[in-house]
Amino acid sequence: MARDACPFGLCDGSGFIIGDDLTAADCQCRAQRVARARSRSLSAVIPRKYRHVAFERPPISDLPEPIVRQVRGYVRKIDEHLQAGEGLWLFGDVGTGKTSLAMLVSQHAIDAGHSVAIYSLPRLLAEIRDTYEDDAEHSYVQLLDRLASVDLLHIDDVGAERTSPWVLEQLYAIVNARYEEERAVLITTNLERDALAEQITERTVSRLEEMCEILPLFGEDRRRQRFEAPAEIKVQATRA
Ligand SMILES: Nc1ncnc2c1ncn2[C@@H]1O[C@H](COP(=O)(O)OP(=O)(O)OP(=O)(O)O)[C@@H](O)[C@H]1O
Ligand SMILES: [Mg+2]
Ligand SMILES: [Zn+2]
Repeated sequence: MARDACPFGLCDGSGFIIGDDLTAADCQCRAQRVARARSRSLSAVIPRKYRHVAFERPPISDLPEPIVRQVRGYVRKIDEHLQAGEGLWLFGDVGTGKTSLAMLVSQHAIDAGHSVAIYSLPRLLAEIRDTYEDDAEHSYVQLLDRLASVDLLHIDDVGAERTSPWVLEQLYAIVNARYEEERAVLITTNLERDALAEQITERTVSRLEEMCEILPLFGEDRRRQRFEAPAEIKVQATRA
């Protein structure tokens, strides 16, 4: 892997300074390098569908103005919000632009140099489950450590699946670790608060509620198309 030059001009880009006695000491840039490597190994990729979302373009420009204004205000002060551990909870009907808005927030966080991990809840739970396998690539502790330390943890579609008590306990551990460290989470969900609590436990939802500003998005499903056949096809169908 190509090494980035040392931002302090101290080391050779390795993150270590070799002394005259050939012992290695941590360079000032090492903490930064570790954080960056960590977020690279996490899922920090905006899915293709949402890669070009922007405030100026549909669908964002067509979403309810008060909600878009709040999200705009949030990303304008993204550094302060992430520093303070303040996140967003986008909640509402299917196909109303929740994921689009959330990806826009993550994109701004990444552009501002923050480490971001983006998961759908089912994928995150699957990854937790995988760490439980004997031949797991990463241990659960490593995964938890990384998920607890990114600047922003973005979980899409929270409550989309039912899962085992063991996995729910791990999800709680992740949320609680971030809660205690005052690190921000960004979530989207279709479920009402109480239905969500039933799926992912009251304790987890209670913490998320405190950590996030809740933004409701309601309306018709924008993915929806007409399933009604044109009149001439209907006539043919009745004849047959
Ligand atoms: N106000 C809107 N006007 C036009 N298209 C929109 C609008 N809101 C969303 N869309 C489009 O509808 C589709 C669904 O958007 P998105 O994935 O953000 O919804 P969602 O609320 O996350 O849905 P789900 O609850 O199913 O996860 C996308 O193709 C998006 O571009
Ligand atoms: Mg969505
Ligand atoms: Zn250095």
